[in-house]
Amino acid sequence: MNPTDADVRHRILPRHVRFDFSHTPIQWVPGDPASTHVMNTLNLMFPAGEMWFCRVYNKALPLITDPALRDDAEGFLRQEALHSRSHGGVLRHYYQRHGIDTAPFTRVLDWSLNRWLGDRPWGLPWGGKSRFWLRQRLGIIAALEHFFGYLGNWVLNAPALDQAGTDPVMLDLLRWHGAEEVEHRTVAYDLYRHFGGGYLGRCLHMACVIPLLLVTTSLGTRFMYRRDPNAGKPMGLFRTWAQGARRGCLPSLWDTLKSAARFFKPGYSPGHEGSTQQALAYLQQSPAARAAAHGGHWVKPTPTQPPAMTTPA
Ligand SMILES: [Fe+2]
Ligand SMILES: [Fe+2]
Repeated sequence: MNPTDADVRHRILPRHVRFDFSHTPIQWVPGDPASTHVMNTLNLMFPAGEMWFCRVYNKALPLITDPALRDDAEGFLRQEALHSRSHGGVLRHYYQRHGIDTAPFTRVLDWSLNRWLGDRPWGLPWGGKSRFWLRQRLGIIAALEHFFGYLGNWVLNAPALDQAGTDPVMLDLLRWHGAEEVEHRTVAYDLYRHFGGGYLGRCLHMACVIPLLLVTTSLGTRFMYRRDPNAGKPMGLFRTWAQGARRGCLPSLWDTLKSAARFFKPGYSPGHEGSTQQALAYLQQSPAARAAAHGGHWVKPTPTQPPAMTTPA
């Protein structure tokens, strides 16, 4: 664990946030379809993807023998369920308002998760009750959570998004989600190890996750470009990503790959990625999280008062 986080051990609890996307423009990073639509892929992926996390964790919970880890895993599950629901709200409101039918993309994703990573992969009967298969899925979640923790830490430290005039509601959604990813970043890895996951398996899972994420992001970005009348012609993923990264509105591709490489180190610990204190500080000031703490009533930030960013000490 990050030494600065040693004294912030706390209970992981969900925050029942709500977002109002009724004024969010299609290019919510203004004039920057590259950054908007690469990040929109997350909105397309999370509803089905994080609900799949929850299904796997529901299988794992009764088998956890360490009470503290079970408590963390329950908190993780409840946070991920709310992440899934909140990004589902983006699909229902933001996309529908702009006349974009996301079903062709999300249906395939849903089908793929059930077909390849469900209880009976490829219809085989052995998956459902197999501890081996459960461990593989927990390993895949741990590898994905490494990226989400990395992206969460990045979005908390991306002042270019504020300077670019990013829609404050979408930015708060990303930073609230990112902060909770940083907050629970050790749980998936700890759980994978609790189920007997080792180093070689971890490398294998990350080796599968990298191309999966690249392909999904590439398809999602292209899907969005084709549906945004002002986005221009879709480019390849790397050119699109580089365009957003040059403005600081996407993480550098090189830094993202270096982060993936850290997962392969034998002494890897997700606690070193990001700061729990910074994440909790953002959650104290996130408009949606604050509203949730006071009964769930939405207080919409105005464009002149975007959610403030916390700078690490
Ligand atoms: Fe999440
Ligand atoms: Fe997560």
